[in-house]
Amino acid sequence: MKILVTGGAGFIGSNFIKYLIRNNPDYKIINLDKLTYAGNLENLKDLNDNKNYKFIQGDIGDEKLINKIVKEVNVIINFAAETHVDRSIANPKAFIETSVLGTYTLLKSALDNNIDKYIQISTDEVYGSTDSETFSEYSPFLPNSPYSASKASADLMCRAFHSTYGLNTIVMHSCNVYGPNQYPEKLIPLVITNLIEGKKVPVYGKGHQIREWIYVEDFASAIELTLKEGMGGEVYNIGSAQRLQNIEVVKTILSHMGKGEEEIEYVKDREGHDFRYAVNSSKIRSELGWKHTKQFQSGIKDTIDWYINNKEWWSKLKSGEYMEYYKKQYLQRK
Ligand code: NAD
Ligand code: TYD
Repeated sequence: MKILVTGGAGFIGSNFIKYLIRNNPDYKIINLDKLTYAGNLENLKDLNDNKNYKFIQGDIGDEKLINKIVKEVNVIINFAAETHVDRSIANPKAFIETSVLGTYTLLKSALDNNIDKYIQISTDEVYGSTDSETFSEYSPFLPNSPYSASKASADLMCRAFHSTYGLNTIVMHSCNVYGPNQYPEKLIPLVITNLIEGKKVPVYGKGHQIREWIYVEDFASAIELTLKEGMGGEVYNIGSAQRLQNIEVVKTILSHMGKGEEEIEYVKDREGHDFRYAVNSSKIRSELGWKHTKQFQSGIKDTIDWYINNKEWWSKLKSGEYMEYYKKQYLQRK
């Protein structure tokens, strides 16, 4: 198996590459990543001497570079995207460039080079928000943020390349993912690192919004299984059925870290904030035999421990560009 992983220096991509190599040391992996603010080669430093792993810095929208690399592989797994909803509200253009045009460039190259399998890593957010239902693979796409709209566009292009040209595309829609190496702008690492730094934790609105949470290694196991056994043209939802209000997530972290509710700061809500995501993941469970193994209480403890033990990794990130962004967000929401 020769795999091009794109966006592999980010949170999920880097965890996936390490997981895949651990289980399949003979697989050859090329990791192409633009190294935006979210890409971090430190996530992969353990692989520097691995002869089956190669890193290339580049953009998935760079047609010439992509065509050159795709000739060397038989599978593509696309993680590359701009991923933070709040940033997509402030500046949607980069989201469209990477997810829409970048994904098209990958698909076209996959087709021209007879790639065996193309896996698109996507999100449950494309289905929009639901007060009481769960999203199945047949739920309509009703995205509400520029982020989820850009992901939905890319997913539909994967569908079109399968229907029109017969390319073996697979789209995976995961619920919210958490674990080590997540950039500290997202809820869970933001709360943990703010508490370590002695800062308050910002909760949007009243914190009653609901998200479904899966540990990153459980998502990696679903991708590995899909890589080996998933069928071209299929769509798989990935979920854990562990659905929590944001305020419950925050209070769980506070309690694990021995802190009180006075650390919470309720701030202005996100514009167009999706109220609830909930995924029906029975298809991948019944058809491919996948199951998740980590419960939220245990996964959150491991994640907190990781951030406590890896302050050097994240404290560097919480300065410079990030600090500028964070201050702006904070002032707007106060
Ligand atoms: P992340 O922001 O941590 O990483 C994204 C990576 O993509 C970074 O390394 C970045 O440098 C790279 N990248 C961005 N634009 C690029 C481009 N034009 N060319 C090449 N590389 C580029 O994100 P993540 O949380 O690891 O998410 C990975 C994928 O999983 C995304 O497609 C996201 O939509 C999807 N997803 C994430 C979650 C979640 O909860 N984090 C849930 C479901 C799906
Ligand atoms: P986030 O981690 O940005 O993921 P997503 O928006 O893709 O689900 O946010 C998770 C939830 O937490 C979402 O409902 C917004 C909320 N949130 C806060 O309340 N405070 C914060 O500082 C952040 C970043 C998010």
